Amino acid sequence: MNNAYHTSVLLQACIDYLIQKPDGVYVDLTFGGGGHSALILEKLNEKGKLFAFDQDADAQKNSLKDPRFTLIPQNFRYLKNFLRVYGIQKVDGILGDLGVSSHQFDEASRGFSIRFDSELDMRMNQQNPLTAKKIVNEYESNALFKLFKEYGEVHNAFKLANEICNYRTNAPINTTNDLKLAIGHCTPKFEEHKYLAKVFQALRIEVNQEMDALKECLSQCVEVMDAGSRLVVISYHSLEDRLVKNLIKTGNTEGIETKDIIYGTSKKIFKNLTGKPIVPDENEIKNNTRARSAKLRVAEKL
Ligand SMILES: C[S@@+](CC[C@H](N)C(=O)[O-])C[C@H]1O[C@@H](n2cnc3c(N)ncnc32)[C@H](O)[C@@H]1O
Repeated sequence: MNNAYHTSVLLQACIDYLIQKPDGVYVDLTFGGGGHSALILEKLNEKGKLFAFDQDADAQKNSLKDPRFTLIPQNFRYLKNFLRVYGIQKVDGILGDLGVSSHQFDEASRGFSIRFDSELDMRMNQQNPLTAKKIVNEYESNALFKLFKEYGEVHNAFKLANEICNYRTNAPINTTNDLKLAIGHCTPKFEEHKYLAKVFQALRIEVNQEMDALKECLSQCVEVMDAGSRLVVISYHSLEDRLVKNLIKTGNTEGIETKDIIYGTSKKIFKNLTGKPIVPDENEIKNNTRARSAKLRVAEKL
């Protein structure tokens, strides 16, 4: 679906893989503009149910008026608890389209984008007490180094962390432009955009505790998925994709193989349905450049 809020990525492929039972119970972990959810509802019959999560209050404005649909305005790290609130123990399929919506990127005041000068916010959940501003002004140099290295894979993370700490001894870093100014000496010429994108990605992941939330959520997916149900996940960077890949291979996000006690063979939790991840074709990328880093993996619970 193409709407002003967000253009859904790999829409048809996701839904074709996800829906096996038109009367089943499904979860959309990342509702956003509701494009994936709307197509799921089209494929379900009158007995089917869809529960969707989104922690961003703005996404609630896109809620769908359909008696089979429930929007849960919460972090998907609480998947199991909230399904229990609605009396759901097992589901027939789970979709996750990870990361940030176009709305979040395009709304200057949210502070996600390097294109605008705005307050360094980057919270998906506006109630979250941690902002990017707090991180750059208050984290110790070592903590900054770690997050830029791990979440941004920034090559000069040590220098970057030091530059931020030096700058803030003279003036606070409140806005995206302040940050660009503070790290000007570390930003490689001619690769400015790419470098800043990595820095912003690292901050965003830390603000929203994205890796911990995803780990917790994926572990709960294993628990709530019925045999034969499908996990369909689109990720947009290698850190997310690694967790999904590990889960599909071993049943846990660490990628630790568990052996069957009697036969000594590796225990299989999922059947990998896609092998290599599916990626958008040229046409989709031409129409929606934000689709270019998408990787779709699908697995069936055994
Ligand atoms: C890429 S968009 C999803 C777009 C959606 N599939 C569509 O078709 O419009 C990701 C959405 O997931 C939400 N999100 C990301 N992490 C989340 C989390 N841990 N819990 C709940 N929502 C989350 C974001 O707020 C954002 O709206």
